[in-house]
Amino acid sequence: MSRHAAAPTSSFARYDSTPHGKESMNEIAAVIFDLDGVLTDTAEYHYRAWRRLADELGIPFDRAANEAFRGVGRDDCLRLLLGGRTVDDFDELATRKNRYYVESLSALTPDDILPGSTELLAELKAAGIPVAIGSASKNTHTVLRGLGLDDAFDAVIDGTLITCSKPDPEVFTKAAAALGVTPGECLVVEDATAGIEAGLAGGMWTLGIGPLSRVGAAHAVVPSLDGLTWARIRTLIDDGAWTLRRPAGADPDQHLETILTIGNGHIAVRGTTLEGRPGEQPASFMHGVWDDMPVSRSELANLPRWWGMDVWANGARLGADPSRIADAWWSLDLRTGTLTRTLTWTPDDATTIALVDERFCSLDQPHAAAVRLRLAVTRGDASVHVRSGLDVHVDNLGLRHWDLVDQSVDGLTVTTVTRTRATGIELAACAVLRPDESAIESCDADGQPAILASAILSEGQTWQATKYVALASSEERFDRRTRVAEIAATSARAGWDALAAVNRQAWATTWHASDVLIDGDPAAQIAVRYGLFQLLSVAPRLADSSIGAKTLSGFGYRHHIFWDTEIFMLPLFTFTQPDLAARMLGYRWHRLDGARRKAAASGAAGARFPWESAGTGDEVCPVWVENPADPANLIRIWTGDLEMHLGADVTYACLQYWRVTGDDAFLRDRGAEIICDTATFYATAAVLEDDGRYHFRNVIGPDEYHEHADDNAFTNAMAAWHLRQAPRVLAWLEETYPAAAADLRTRLGIDADREALWRTVADAMATPRERDGVTEQQEGFFDLTAVDFALARDPGRTLSMQQIYGLGPTAHTQNLKQPDVLMLAYLLPELFTPEQFLANYRYYDPRTDHELGSSLGPSISAIIACRAGDPTAALTHFRRAAQADLVDVRGNARDGIHGASAGGLWQAVVFGFAGLRIDDDGWHTAPALPPGWTRVAFSFLWRGERQDVVVRASDA
Ligand code: G6P
Ligand code: MG
Repeated sequence: MSRHAAAPTSSFARYDSTPHGKESMNEIAAVIFDLDGVLTDTAEYHYRAWRRLADELGIPFDRAANEAFRGVGRDDCLRLLLGGRTVDDFDELATRKNRYYVESLSALTPDDILPGSTELLAELKAAGIPVAIGSASKNTHTVLRGLGLDDAFDAVIDGTLITCSKPDPEVFTKAAAALGVTPGECLVVEDATAGIEAGLAGGMWTLGIGPLSRVGAAHAVVPSLDGLTWARIRTLIDDGAWTLRRPAGADPDQHLETILTIGNGHIAVRGTTLEGRPGEQPASFMHGVWDDMPVSRSELANLPRWWGMDVWANGARLGADPSRIADAWWSLDLRTGTLTRTLTWTPDDATTIALVDERFCSLDQPHAAAVRLRLAVTRGDASVHVRSGLDVHVDNLGLRHWDLVDQSVDGLTVTTVTRTRATGIELAACAVLRPDESAIESCDADGQPAILASAILSEGQTWQATKYVALASSEERFDRRTRVAEIAATSARAGWDALAAVNRQAWATTWHASDVLIDGDPAAQIAVRYGLFQLLSVAPRLADSSIGAKTLSGFGYRHHIFWDTEIFMLPLFTFTQPDLAARMLGYRWHRLDGARRKAAASGAAGARFPWESAGTGDEVCPVWVENPADPANLIRIWTGDLEMHLGADVTYACLQYWRVTGDDAFLRDRGAEIICDTATFYATAAVLEDDGRYHFRNVIGPDEYHEHADDNAFTNAMAAWHLRQAPRVLAWLEETYPAAAADLRTRLGIDADREALWRTVADAMATPRERDGVTEQQEGFFDLTAVDFALARDPGRTLSMQQIYGLGPTAHTQNLKQPDVLMLAYLLPELFTPEQFLANYRYYDPRTDHELGSSLGPSISAIIACRAGDPTAALTHFRRAAQADLVDVRGNARDGIHGASAGGLWQAVVFGFAGLRIDDDGWHTAPALPPGWTRVAFSFLWRGERQDVVVRASDA
């Protein structure tokens, strides 16, 4: 029940239809400047004043120490200076420093304005963009007067008006309020680490002035304002809205490796280093390359290491001594799927090398990837060796999948052919190296064919080597050995720039279809785009594959495919890139035989998709797994046996796909078969009891805190809905494609009795109890132990409710891992009156472990809260979903991207905040934008035609 009235379907014209594609950027309505170090170099005067005081006190102090004083209030600076020493004349010391500082200010003139500032301020004024000062300094007005800038700002918030020092955002949020704009519409220009943190904490765009080491957390970084136009700044911030930049620390960081995963819909590679370091979890995967394993039964084989290069300079090996690497940064360009690392390397005391390495998997050519290494010797001379090749000695967390079939080194080309041990899938890999002038040697070690390129470089010289890679498996029909050689050679002939250009173009097309623009919340903008990137980079571009719960980004869940795909990820594709959605549904269709085997094993007819699916479509859910907390006792995993709502989920996805795309051929050739045969499973698995109702006992619904549930509301209602859809689909088929219908009936054995059974079971499905409008989640749920709300909402809680109570005992409480009845209300809103919906919301929402339960929950809770008329609560849920990977709230992102959360983010924006709803006649929106959000824009395809949707806060 959104507080906004739903726009009638016929009022499309209400929304302006400007395409919001790449030409459109986030709106910035105002600019807030820090003062010292940004507009003028008083940072230097501050330094001298502190230095004088420090000398008087006999405390060592230098420019490096002064860096930490930037943006920090006077008293806090003094505390930093004293470093724990206690003094009884604190105030006198602060006053003395200020006297020294103010003395130097008397010499200030307009000449002390830093280059570029005056021009930028004039440009902003002409453009009508309000500007403010947000400075911790209590001398702000004195400084502005000295610079002749006393009238240049629409608002000045200085150290006298605030109670909290940066990194608290107070100074900036007060400046935004003084300008009458929301924080998310502001750009903060800052030279201090604390100032950038303050801007980010305030939810603003940030431009950092200075080195990455100081302001690298900003959305964009420049050395100074000199020569910067407003248009240039807008472009830099726009680039920032497409970039994930992170410091590359000395220690391996598997969380970072996961979130820096790149891919092209066929191959993906984690963001581990080029050179490899102990403690990393290097991995690259390709759709379809399944191999057997114990316990989890099947997983994608980690591909031979194709992206690596070993680098030596003057005998020292890159990465061997991490303390010799400085200023290392990763930068992931979401616009092109290119991962770049920059660093400074001091291989020995006399030599410094600036190193850049970049990689991408081509979205234009799904078999191709490229890696480039660039070196610039900035000090001393360097004898450089680079070894580049293929390494088949790789494993999946200790398990080896490859047997070497063949390898070769021929000139600058290396090739390997490997075969998976159990499934016999063959993989051909080829890497062609193109180095700048070098001496070349070949190294043909067993399983590690490589080329060694050597060069002697003197100070000022640059050198680069590019590795063009091609990979193909026997899952594809062509002659893979010849093909990979051709692809790698063609790439090498075209060169990096040409390859990068076509890759960029392919990504531009993809983004044009799927991008979402959010104004007023930079963090939300980047998080949604990041989630989209992770899904777009693994959606199958070549064959009918699907996306596992952890995408192709790690070993978590061994790449298995769950309902996460159909219910959480697929809508993005159904609505924006339906050809990719069709491939993922095709993955299910191709595995109907596996589903039939599972149904038969459960003593039923029809098809039952496995809870966890891999290559064959048979159940690959582990049955017992180790419990790291209690190694003596294994944990029984029941989901493969008991969680049975997947057939209805897949049917839901098929019908949503059909309704949105109008793809009749899909429903005729694939969808109808899936829907009818999975319906038969439900009809034959449901048990008729003495009460005359059909029951599903001992099941697991979406809320997995309650295993062994009887008559789970979600499962029963989805199955009943499904059983009603099946005859409708069959009737449609009979009317539209009678021959296909007759064929389907014969193949699936659908006679009048079968159809009658579908209907009977649907009509007589056990329905849960209802109390005060609240649907009981499963039999007996109302009688379970009440939730300890103080504990559940304790902001200091670090364990999930299930971890607190234990696996078994949690099931005896009303704590939910994720929405269950509310999930049903999301998917099938027509089953609930507005009053019932609200009653269920009020009952179940507080009982859900939003904080640390399932990562699938928060995005759906955001949509539910929007529909309940509470966009503020929705934003809290949304932010939790947004942090699943970027912040790693659950501490398990090292195992891989939370794909469902990423897909749920898109749904939260489109179906939640923008309130897009479709029905047989068309679509409409019912916006419920959260506080601060000023505009949401996205596109989707309705029956093949592009629809551009723009929702503004002012529409409400
Ligand atoms: C700015 C400077 C800091 C300084 C602070 C307080 O933020 O960057 O270095 O300590 O203002 O200045 P004040 O003039 O009040 O001592
Ligand atoms: Mg400053």
